[in-house]
Amino acid sequence: MTNRAPQVLVCGDEASVGREAAERFVCAAVRSVAKREAFFVAIPGGRGPRAMLALLAQPGLRDAVPWGSVHVFFTDERCVPPYDPESNYHQAWDLLLSKVPIPEQNVHRFRTELGPEEAARDYEKELRAVMGDDPAFDLIVLGVGPDGHTASLFPGSPVLHEMSRLAAAVHVEKLDSYRLTLTLPAICSAESVLVVAAGPEKAEAIRDVLHGEPDPAVRPIRAVVQCAHSILWLIDESAAELLR
Ligand code: 6PG
Repeated sequence: MTNRAPQVLVCGDEASVGREAAERFVCAAVRSVAKREAFFVAIPGGRGPRAMLALLAQPGLRDAVPWGSVHVFFTDERCVPPYDPESNYHQAWDLLLSKVPIPEQNVHRFRTELGPEEAARDYEKELRAVMGDDPAFDLIVLGVGPDGHTASLFPGSPVLHEMSRLAAAVHVEKLDSYRLTLTLPAICSAESVLVVAAGPEKAEAIRDVLHGEPDPAVRPIRAVVQCAHSILWLIDESAAELLR
């Protein structure tokens, strides 16, 4: 499959980004399940996916998703317990997973209670157990930070150079904390990548990544643009303001 140029869809505001993302999530799920009786998707934390997650829990879209064949993974996780408000798993459980008929065993969280390194190894084992030895997500949803980070791939991070493992633990200096993250090989395996971003604070990084040729060490999501088979940016007017 050849890598296609990144597509950008500017949606009015954060709510319309969420609606567009939710509808594309449903389409991808229906298409993947029809093709291979499963839909493997990874979702991020942060504000980016909140509107999408909430809409997928609404009767309209919720009932269009074949939840029994959906496997939800996470692009990254904070090293906190699963019930901690900071947890990406907690956010997804609260907004969506507790409201839809997805089998418990189809929700694959980072088991942060194991500690960073062990949790990363455990997650990779689970990825391979569920998707086989050459895992390939059908869809990965990503957010992007004002510095161009995505998942927990931060500027200058050594984990940007991890090309064999699928998941890793990384100490994030600017946060002074450990994070767990999918690595680029795992993210770049995806059939489709959906980047959801809203807010003027994202505008500079988005302009750099889409219009410049920045070093992925400076704007890590650039590495995803370079490797993704297919990538669609769903951004609101304010995040798109420097693209004009
Ligand atoms: C996380 C996310 C992270 C997020 C960016 C953007 O754990 O926080 O996975 O990668 O996507 O930090 O965050 P916002 O969408 O909240 O701006």
